[in-house]
Amino acid sequence: MKQRNRFLKKYPYYDSSLPIEQRIDLLLMRLTLKEKFKLLSGRVFSWWKSSSIYRLKIPSLNMSDGPHGISFHSSFRFMTKFPCSKCLSASWNPHLASNVGAAIAEEAKAIGKQLLLAPGMNIDRTPLNGRTFEYFSEDPFLTKEFAVAYVKGVQSRGVGATIKHFIANNQETNRFTVNVQVDVRTLHEIYLRAFRDVVREADPLVVMGSYNKVNGIYACENKELLQETLFNLWGFKGFVVSDWYATKFLKRPEQAIQAGLSLEMPKAIVYTLKRLKKAFKEGLFSREELDAVVRRFLRVLFRVGLFDEKPRKSFRVKVNSPVHQELAQHVAEEGMVLLKNEGNFLPLNINHIKSVGIFGPFSSKKMGKFLYGGSAAVVPPFEISPKKGIINKVKEHVKIVKKPAEADCCLVFVGISHAKGGDCENFDRPGLSLPKQQNDLILEVVEQNPQTVVVLINGSPITMEPWLEKVPAVLEAWHPGMMGGNAIANVLFGVVNPSGKLPITFPKRLEDSPAHTSPRSYPGSDSVFYEEGIYVGYRHFDKKSIAPLFPFGFGLSYSKFSYKDLLLSSSEIAGSQELDVVVEVTNDSPVAGAEIVQLYVKDDEASIDRPVKELRGFKKVFLNPYETATVNMTLGSSDLEFFDAENFTWRTEPGSFTIFIGPSSRVLPLEGKFEFR
Ligand code: BGC
Repeated sequence: MKQRNRFLKKYPYYDSSLPIEQRIDLLLMRLTLKEKFKLLSGRVFSWWKSSSIYRLKIPSLNMSDGPHGISFHSSFRFMTKFPCSKCLSASWNPHLASNVGAAIAEEAKAIGKQLLLAPGMNIDRTPLNGRTFEYFSEDPFLTKEFAVAYVKGVQSRGVGATIKHFIANNQETNRFTVNVQVDVRTLHEIYLRAFRDVVREADPLVVMGSYNKVNGIYACENKELLQETLFNLWGFKGFVVSDWYATKFLKRPEQAIQAGLSLEMPKAIVYTLKRLKKAFKEGLFSREELDAVVRRFLRVLFRVGLFDEKPRKSFRVKVNSPVHQELAQHVAEEGMVLLKNEGNFLPLNINHIKSVGIFGPFSSKKMGKFLYGGSAAVVPPFEISPKKGIINKVKEHVKIVKKPAEADCCLVFVGISHAKGGDCENFDRPGLSLPKQQNDLILEVVEQNPQTVVVLINGSPITMEPWLEKVPAVLEAWHPGMMGGNAIANVLFGVVNPSGKLPITFPKRLEDSPAHTSPRSYPGSDSVFYEEGIYVGYRHFDKKSIAPLFPFGFGLSYSKFSYKDLLLSSSEIAGSQELDVVVEVTNDSPVAGAEIVQLYVKDDEASIDRPVKELRGFKKVFLNPYETATVNMTLGSSDLEFFDAENFTWRTEPGSFTIFIGPSSRVLPLEGKFEFR
């Protein structure tokens, strides 16, 4: 007791009975100017830690990359590798995102990390973005639902989540310098919206400022975006960290401080002691402004338990536990999207098939390697490749043959690797097509044996023109994580009924895509101009009436579903009233399965140009054979709003709205109308 009192006398901010803000006050008043400066940048010779201050017992904040697991490069450990974010969001089951977030946070905690640098939640503006596989969707609503769940999952385990990359970091070409020219409405309605909602609904501890400039100013020193929007408008309470070396072109520490950048990583460039001292001496920033960014940083340290008197109990989980591996497999199974299944070619019947041919460079390719694909790389202790998964499944029953013509069925595994020009940080893809050798291989196999299934291992859209018409079945398996092979085998052999749907449009040709109308709009040079405005993803395909290869929200099942009896709780709502939307969905088949019911809204009489429709609700329902479920969703005025740039505010206009319900953005059999007053 005596010892404790003596300790708390010296370090009173360790007293956990006091409110956090008071503890921060106690700490701030003890910090010298130089110590405050030191806290603004990463620890010397460390890539993942913030600076510590021994005198005051201020520990480092220890971080790890995500979003697919704890990265090898930040831990030097083999950890559970989950499916990529596109696979996760293709499940349309945010509950899984919450479980994945919690599992990764448990692994972070088990190895002494307090902050996860995930989730990535930029909007898919172009399908060529090398980091598409790390992000959730082209749609702000779907993105938000997944990011909220992921952040809540991570933070439920006492680990901080970092939402990244703030903002408009939508391409890797020229990512360090490109100046994104985007109008205010588009910025808020498409790119900022999900970040705003996650800040409000999930209270993430950290936001990562991106590399690029937005309308002429680097994101990490952009006062309008950080101070005015993130802090003042949205009420964000955590701190802003720079992306790694995103500060290398910043010249003025005062500008970054006044904008609200609390932590420069991985080391001091703009926040060097010399620069800070000089700027402070010249009166370029005030003590209050400095304290404001330091306070935000310290608040997070308190919140993740770094000033707890006794260290918080770590969860008794082993990293790579069977439970986490099972979850990784489950996500892969729920996220896979069946794109084509002519004549119910799939599932394969293990009792009817006597031989199978396994082909393609991705059948046994190792995907979890050191920095493979960039910062999202995770190295698992083992990886079930597709080939291994199939062999595990069919072992005694089916012979694996080498020649396509000798097989009852051929499986071709093609995809996009994590190397330059593929699904990879730092580079965009050169085009939408698979490498020519892979297209040729599919054609070669299918020519010898038309009973061929193509399985895709990738995290971004591809074109399939040369072979799509020739094969009976195509399964989008994404980058399915360390248990991917088992998951693929389960879907192909019908142990699991596929239920994923596309969270991103697959265009027929690159030119159909909204960002690809001119070199100005992509890739740009010094500047890139978001000329398509709010018409990103399916919003663009709808407006221009372009048929995609596979639309947003599309995915097949081994079951057949039908929709009927759309009911709205009222013919009008006003103010904060909510509208209940009820619909009956039936499984008309003898196979149990899950359907993703999608709800889109159209503003019938807007004073400004609005999208043909926007996703504002979805529900995944599991249905037994011939079962009917009543699906409920609700809409409020915020589901009807747009960003009014002239008055710089969100606005819902009174008038008529149409609701569309159905299984994909292009098949919406049910319609209803209501008025907003
Ligand atoms: C990436 C971030 C990542 C950071 C640390 C950067 O290159 O853009 O997403 O968190 O590196 O590895």
